[in-house]
Amino acid sequence: MSTKILIIGACGQIGTELTQKLRSIYGNDNVIASDIRKLNNDIVNNGIFEVVNALDYNQIEHLIEQYQITDVYLMAALLSATAEKNPAFAWDLNMNSLFHVLNLAKAKKIKKIFWPSSIAVFGPTTPRHNTPQYTIMEPTTVYGISKQTGERWCEYYHNIYGVDVRSIRYPGLISWSTEPGGGTTDYAVDIYHKALKDGKYECFLSEDTALPMMYMDDAIRATVEIMQASSEQIKIRSSYNLSGISFTPAEIATEIKKHIPDFTISYKPDFRQKIADSWPASIDDSSAREDWNWKHEFDLASMTQEMLDHLK
Ligand code: SER
Repeated sequence: MSTKILIIGACGQIGTELTQKLRSIYGNDNVIASDIRKLNNDIVNNGIFEVVNALDYNQIEHLIEQYQITDVYLMAALLSATAEKNPAFAWDLNMNSLFHVLNLAKAKKIKKIFWPSSIAVFGPTTPRHNTPQYTIMEPTTVYGISKQTGERWCEYYHNIYGVDVRSIRYPGLISWSTEPGGGTTDYAVDIYHKALKDGKYECFLSEDTALPMMYMDDAIRATVEIMQASSEQIKIRSSYNLSGISFTPAEIATEIKKHIPDFTISYKPDFRQKIADSWPASIDDSSAREDWNWKHEFDLASMTQEMLDHLK
């Protein structure tokens, strides 16, 4: 049986680029994009698109039967900053959408699941530098609590029901083609837009706040690679640490100045500073590198070059 994919949350920051990539690999007819609303964009216009509420089990089940879906990528979620503004809905969406998909796999209606976790699973008591795969995890954000809980359920469904679920703890993701969706790491995208447009940027995090980050091309490749790996290679069924780059606002500003010498940055930390302070500064991803041969390609310099070239 060939691979037939359903992406839930296909119009979001990751979903948009992931859908394009999966369509290029598996063919337009084998990748069904879905989201809560129909936008007028490439995802909707260049292939099969369905309006789906990630909280509606029956709707998802119906689509899976209609298109004979084998693999589901569940990308719908509220991110860290947005979730703090609406904790009850964030918990409902982030948890129950996952249960729906896990239960569909348990009932053998689908074969494989990709579900994203995040660096937000870590908290202020976690070792901040080179954070290990297995360590103290006491998340203090609603988003982090939902991702940590989700990880435990993924592992449980794998161990008890044999569900083939695979997951990555994404760091902050940076892309020129899609807007970020309400996270604490969003500044690292916005800064490039404002640098080109206004020549200056006011950052909502302080200058020395180091966070784990990654260029979107690397993140999409990681997602495809973990899903294409053999089941035996995926030894961790909660979620894998994944690392690309780690930098502070001051460091990204210095890199931008090499291209735009007059660029200036100022700092006005808001509520997101506290979230950032509770997260790691850098991540040890040796398990992903050993188990399924993960390797990042982009560093701060090459990412900055690409971002500015594309946004110009
Ligand atoms: N980029 C995400 C956020 O800031 C982290 O998973 O919420």
